[in-house]
Amino acid sequence: MKRLANKTAIITGAARGIGQHFAEAYIREGAQVAITDIDVKRGAETAKTLGDNAIFIPMDVTDQASIDTAVDQAAEHFGTIDILVNNAAVFSAAPIAEITRDDYQKLFDINVSGTLFTMQAVARHMMAHQTKGKIINMASQAGRRGEALVAVYCATKAAVISLTQSAGLNLIQHGINVNAIAPGVVDGEHWDGVDAFFAHYENKKPGQKKQEVGEGVPYGRMGTPQDLSGMAIFLASDEADYIVGQTYNVDGGQYMS
Ligand SMILES: NC(=O)c1ccc[n+]([C@@H]2O[C@H](COP(=O)([O-])OP(=O)(O)OC[C@H]3O[C@@H](n4cnc5c(N)ncnc54)[C@H](O)[C@@H]3O)[C@@H](O)[C@H]2O)c1
Repeated sequence: MKRLANKTAIITGAARGIGQHFAEAYIREGAQVAITDIDVKRGAETAKTLGDNAIFIPMDVTDQASIDTAVDQAAEHFGTIDILVNNAAVFSAAPIAEITRDDYQKLFDINVSGTLFTMQAVARHMMAHQTKGKIINMASQAGRRGEALVAVYCATKAAVISLTQSAGLNLIQHGINVNAIAPGVVDGEHWDGVDAFFAHYENKKPGQKKQEVGEGVPYGRMGTPQDLSGMAIFLASDEADYIVGQTYNVDGGQYMS
């Protein structure tokens, strides 16, 4: 029996990277998935590659009208929404003295407000249809502690962990489970951008930071999206009914809590 048979899911920021991989994994487990992303071209290509059980819906998580329209479209297409993965996020780095208000605002708009108000829109649908839904927020090891050059991103991910706890406590009365995944360092285009920030601020060669962080993981290498998919499937499944407001580290042993 497939673990997500007859389930429907919305995954934000799923045009590429971890979100794309989760979409593939959910479809393999029997779900239908709405790939949503601000990158319309790539999102449509990704949905096409994933076949008949994927659709693409454009969505900017910083824009309330865009969130509402996308969630309504997914609900209309699928009938109900069983699973939301709040995955869209952006990274930036700067020493404290160089952080700008614009960058701070951008990261909080996407990573925190985007997570909260997408969760709200989907939770309203789940409540209206009495769906015992699952919401999974993507946190990070960055939300577990500070980093000298990553203050704003770390703060956004700490906020995601906190929102997961409060929303978990509030929504469980409706049978909606809210939990989160805190990955460590996961290879892909996202980390190519992270590497470039560190090359700039720590005077490293391109690729050097990536190699160093991979060697520093207790497991012995950077993570892959595949390393996270077991937890993403589990938290989306009925097996996770009794799990409320938790954030799970899936990071090769980087952080213990
Ligand atoms: N890669 C890592 O090392 C790592 C580690 C810890 C946590 N995470 C978290 O995992 C999640 C996925 O990371 P990833 O590595 O796949 O990142 P990624 O950069 O490859 O993908 C993020 C996606 O979000 C989309 N996006 C950006 N702004 C958006 C907006 N306003 N509205 C809708 N979509 C938007 C992008 O177009 C992109 O497709 C993120 O929440 C990230 O913070 C990643």
